[in-house]
Amino acid sequence: MKLHHVIKAQQFTRDLLDQIFSVAEEMEKVTLSGGSDILKGKVMATIFYEPSTRTRLSFESAMRKLGGEVITTESAREFSSAAKGETLEDTIRVVEGYADVIVLRHFESGAAERAANVSQIPIINAGDGPGQHPTQALLDIYTIDKEIGHLDGISIAMVGDLANGRTVRSLSYLLSKYDDVKVYFVAPEVVKMKDDIKDHLREHKVFFAERDDLAEVASQVDVIYQTRIQKERFGDRVQDYEKARGKYIIDKSLLKVMKQNAIIMHPLPRVDEIKPEVDSDPRAAYFRQARNGLYIRMALLKMVLLD
Ligand code: CP
Repeated sequence: MKLHHVIKAQQFTRDLLDQIFSVAEEMEKVTLSGGSDILKGKVMATIFYEPSTRTRLSFESAMRKLGGEVITTESAREFSSAAKGETLEDTIRVVEGYADVIVLRHFESGAAERAANVSQIPIINAGDGPGQHPTQALLDIYTIDKEIGHLDGISIAMVGDLANGRTVRSLSYLLSKYDDVKVYFVAPEVVKMKDDIKDHLREHKVFFAERDDLAEVASQVDVIYQTRIQKERFGDRVQDYEKARGKYIIDKSLLKVMKQNAIIMHPLPRVDEIKPEVDSDPRAAYFRQARNGLYIRMALLKMVLLD
């Protein structure tokens, strides 16, 4: 199955997801054995209009571990010709002449799709504003599968900023492809999950419920997926941000009610929504999750550039 653009979670079939996971496992072995040169001669351009640590560096590391080259513009709003008024479409038309694949993070929902519409080379969506973050969702379900051992029948609590969180949106779309999944949304009133995702889950007959009591939900689920309240998306709604911040915190007392074989995930970065005292608990999976991002992104680069 040929993979070209990676734009949104809905584009993946279960067969394609299995294929990506299988290549990611292969990539884990490649990494342990010191890397490979299968992408020698290929160039990846990373164009990031919003800040990033994990996504940009893991993509760049992935490309290098497979023998490819990287060209990059971080802070593209200030340091690319966008600052002079160049459109995203023109930037893509130019950069496709220099690279074999473009990894794009943008501040507007739908930007990756706009880029793909004018691009002859693969576009990978590395997060488009409050829209989607499909490669994060891929590494998230890869992590759940590795840690829990299955995806069918999984129960998950998505916690925190569900209105602005592109990771939980993409994750919901991907989970709807599996059977007997249960999703609990636990969010402050001002950042509840949006209706389009709830409609999608209803359409795909996925059980979901909105809950207020994190401790009660934590005792029932296999995965707690915590997210940061995204201050940067509130603009001048400072009071709404203050209302949402600090409502749901994972600390030692929550660990006591969680199932012994459950895990805590977080796309990171975190601010104060998971206390550092939780990090040493074996159920804290968020740093392992971030590492899985490397293998998933190596797999995606191999699949869009070679297969
Ligand atoms: N999870 C994630 O997208 O992290 P970065 O913003 O650091 O890339």
